[in-house]
Amino acid sequence: MGDKTSPSNVGTVVSVRGSVVDIRFDAHLPPIYSLLHAKEGEIAIEVLAQLDAHRVRGIALTPTQGLARGIVVKDTGGPLMAPVGKGILSRMFDVFGNAIDRQEAPTDVQWRTVHRAPPALARRSTKSEIFETGIKVIDVLVPLERGGKAGLFGGAGVGKTVLLTEMIHNMIGHQKGVSIFCGIGERCREGEELYRDMKEAGVLPNMVMVFGQMNEPPGSRFRVGHAALTMAEYFRDDEHRDVLLLIDNIFRFIQAGMEVSGLMGQMPSRLGYQPTMGTELSRLEERIANTDAGAITSIQAVYVPADDLTDPAAVHTFSHLSASIVLSRKRASEGLYPAIDLLQSSSKMATPGIVGERHYLLAQEIRRTLAQYEDLKDVIAMLGLEQLSPDDRKVVARARRLERFLTQPFFATEQFSGIKGKLVSLKDALDGCERILRDEFKDYPERALYMIGAIDEAKKNAPSDKPAAKAEPGAKPAAKADPKPAADSKPKTGSEPQPKPEPKSKPEVEHAAADTHEP
Ligand SMILES: Nc1ncnc2c1ncn2[C@@H]1O[C@H](COP(=O)(O)OP(=O)(O)OP(=O)(O)O)[C@@H](O)[C@H]1O
Ligand SMILES: [Mg+2]
Repeated sequence: MGDKTSPSNVGTVVSVRGSVVDIRFDAHLPPIYSLLHAKEGEIAIEVLAQLDAHRVRGIALTPTQGLARGIVVKDTGGPLMAPVGKGILSRMFDVFGNAIDRQEAPTDVQWRTVHRAPPALARRSTKSEIFETGIKVIDVLVPLERGGKAGLFGGAGVGKTVLLTEMIHNMIGHQKGVSIFCGIGERCREGEELYRDMKEAGVLPNMVMVFGQMNEPPGSRFRVGHAALTMAEYFRDDEHRDVLLLIDNIFRFIQAGMEVSGLMGQMPSRLGYQPTMGTELSRLEERIANTDAGAITSIQAVYVPADDLTDPAAVHTFSHLSASIVLSRKRASEGLYPAIDLLQSSSKMATPGIVGERHYLLAQEIRRTLAQYEDLKDVIAMLGLEQLSPDDRKVVARARRLERFLTQPFFATEQFSGIKGKLVSLKDALDGCERILRDEFKDYPERALYMIGAIDEAKKNAPSDKPAAKAEPGAKPAAKADPKPAADSKPKTGSEPQPKPEPKSKPEVEHAAADTHEP
């Protein structure tokens, strides 16, 4: 745990309520953020409030089992520290900087406080450069920024972790800098799996992992992000390297703050969130910044409670990001992975000055086509595809082909989807979209474009040279299944052209795919 303890300043426990501990110090009251140790350092407490001249209130970063009134507490004389230095590379840590990979504690490290200020405005740098991910839909429609912050928003089980893992897989290999993975309040199993995968892929030597998972007390989940950032800042400022910081899941940080705040007796604010959510989040997010020394690019998964994007936690997080990728349950249920909602996701990099004129116009046209299709869906559901004008029908055909082309098999899901993962260059992705928009693939069955890499693979997938020219009417399984007589005066609305109603559980790829997938 922390390094040195100054035995001089000792206090005694006055009360213990769950994770909240009040301690009395007669001689010297420890300042806010001081780390206190009880039971030989087995229990760590961070001071969050000074109640009066002699008592402080702190939150335990460890379970408080066995802590009782009267137990002696020692002030370590400093705040929570994180190890930094070359020695932490390829290692896995908990919030205290203890190695949790069953190896010796790293030697050759310095300890730094986890509470650090963001870089001053004058030291910040901005260059707008694109960060290619090799994932078609992201590179084309939501380009990420090198040195920016991107969020992956989504409710439970829509594929945040899978997408994040895929990005790690695609980027770490050819990124020269250091990668830091911070697990906040998610499953321990996922951390262990990631560690093993990274080891097998041979990228561990340039990676550090820090975990405060869901089984740990709120105090620890609340501080683990700060510990990871301290490490990231070391690589940026001292070693002048670029850092890729991956966080799964930033919502759990907010949630831990909410638990801490509740335990500390603060009045909850909207929807039970802590009144200090905005400050807490920006204190963390603002440290993810670029300076002349190096850049920290961060990708953060953001759990969205009840799929409601207006949730205060999601709204606050949105405002810090340069790209927001929104995952949609509906697309996941149709098997269109990665289940990115193309119309809700956005990136501030998608401007002609940065991505170039051609890319910009193409992205605009893709969005327009998809938006038109979205509008037509109601009409199709009510009247059927046949009632659309020929032009509209073309839009539908293009949009559906685009949607399928923008799916991609992932390396991260190889084991259970059975399809080999594919990395696609931005050029190939743009070419593919352009050719679809030019109707080059209108005679190909939609199926041929599903889960492929570059567009040329569609040719291989098409059954013959003259592929199903009549694939199109079948394009709308729901519309067909529910044929309303066209002459019907005003049919009732509300029947979504969705193949099936809202799925209750996580969709299995195979079955979801099967069900959208007839040509
Ligand atoms: N790209 C994909 N290809 C195939 N299947 C996918 C893909 N993305 C997600 N899935 C399916 O969705 C499931 C849930 O994904 P994941 O664990 O990433 O969700 P999550 O959003 O992280 O959920 P949670 O909020 O519970 O952490 C996966 O186990 C997988 O079956
Ligand atoms: Mg997850």
